[in-house]
Amino acid sequence: MGFLRVQAVAELSATQNDIPEEFIMSKPNRPSSTTFTGPTPDLPVIDLANPDRESVTSAIAEASREWGIFQVVNHGVPEELIKKLQLVGNDFFQLPIEEKEAYAANPSSGSLEGYGTQFDKDLEGKKSWVDFLFHIVWPQSRINYKVWPQNPASYRKVNEEYTKCMLPLVDEMFGNLSISLGLEKGALKEAAGGDEMKYMMKINYYPPCPRPDLALGITPHTDMSTLTIILPDQVPGLQVSKDEHWIDVKYVPNALIVHIGDQIEIMSNGVYKSVLHRTTVNKEKARLSWPLFVEPPEEKEIGPLPQLITGEKPAKYKCKKFKDYQYCKINKLPQ
Ligand code: SIN
Ligand code: FE2
Repeated sequence: MGFLRVQAVAELSATQNDIPEEFIMSKPNRPSSTTFTGPTPDLPVIDLANPDRESVTSAIAEASREWGIFQVVNHGVPEELIKKLQLVGNDFFQLPIEEKEAYAANPSSGSLEGYGTQFDKDLEGKKSWVDFLFHIVWPQSRINYKVWPQNPASYRKVNEEYTKCMLPLVDEMFGNLSISLGLEKGALKEAAGGDEMKYMMKINYYPPCPRPDLALGITPHTDMSTLTIILPDQVPGLQVSKDEHWIDVKYVPNALIVHIGDQIEIMSNGVYKSVLHRTTVNKEKARLSWPLFVEPPEEKEIGPLPQLITGEKPAKYKCKKFKDYQYCKINKLPQ
């Protein structure tokens, strides 16, 4: 295989109380010196069960304009199911590395699905302190069950149940975002590919790190998706960039975190912001997170919605196929 999983690097590093050079961020990116410690507003927390539906819609839109990220509570995903999803994900990462390798992603096959480690270094040649498991969960026709763990045995059933809860939640988010733009409820979803949109589950596994002051779990980025809905665990680590500061996202019990991704920013012609974020790591504890990425189908052309373009508000983004957008972003080419 030729390279180590970060989990194995972490085990070695623990005995040496130090980390390899390629994980040490350059000074301007080190979490110890760049995390904002002054008073900051908390990320908006939106109660989706609030009977005042108009206030829910406007809170989602305002958070998406100002922050590009927010937390939702009373989102309809049962607490028990959330616990089960976390349990099966944790159980998978507790398996011996050799057993996990049976699901190894093979990027040369053109697919990123499976168990893996980020292989591309960032612009400065630095690596992220994270391993992952990644697979499509919807639409049904695109699922490759070969990369879904067989162990634990309930992995498939629990992930299928969770996906069933995500579909209406995603629709609700798209609906509210569309209405606030003065559009039909279904406008953004339709423009993003409607029922052909792809839903991808990722589990990020951040092993304990002896130098959390120097390493990052994931370096700063915006998501390529339309939306990303993240289930966090209780270990803090997600940070968002707001007004030039890196702010910690607080853990809110039973909340899900909704990110606006690049494709919603583009379709809304910049009204909604794709949030810049990164993750830090922890000295004693492993941290896991479960982002669900919602993407347009590869061939779908995405651009600012024509209904939003006026003489005063010309299009700020090009219209291009999602696969071309992805290619440029992954290869760090101009869009
Ligand atoms: C990410 O996918 O950007 C990281 C999310 C997280 O671990 O909280
Ligand atoms: Fe992300």
